[in-house]
Amino acid sequence: MCAKPISADEPISAAEGGWVRIRGIAAFAGRSLLPVRVAGRSLLLVRSEGALFAVERACPHESADLARGHCTNGRLHCPRHRASFALSDGAVSPGWFFRDLATFATRRIGEDVEIWIGEPPGGRSAP
Ligand code: FES
Repeated sequence: MCAKPISADEPISAAEGGWVRIRGIAAFAGRSLLPVRVAGRSLLLVRSEGALFAVERACPHESADLARGHCTNGRLHCPRHRASFALSDGAVSPGWFFRDLATFATRRIGEDVEIWIGEPPGGRSAP
């Protein structure tokens, strides 16, 4: 079951990029997937093996809601056709011929998390 997304719709210059803070990581409440809305984008925070990742929420194949998927062994599994994506770089599982999942750099600031929106220093920006 998906929770209502946490929203942090701060304006971000796509050319410059910037960190956007999501307040209260406690919102995970024992779950591994947390939908968030950040700077106009629907993303998914994923907690896996002690690390925190941010990825686009819609599957690149047919836009299934990845918040309804699950995560195992560092991979996020799509609930519709069961492709999976590496959380580290968004690489799609072998045998699928669509683009990788967009990933975003994250960093913890106390009980909050920040997501980099825009061009790297970290993850790849969404197309
Ligand atoms: S919609 Fe995700 S694999 Fe098809």
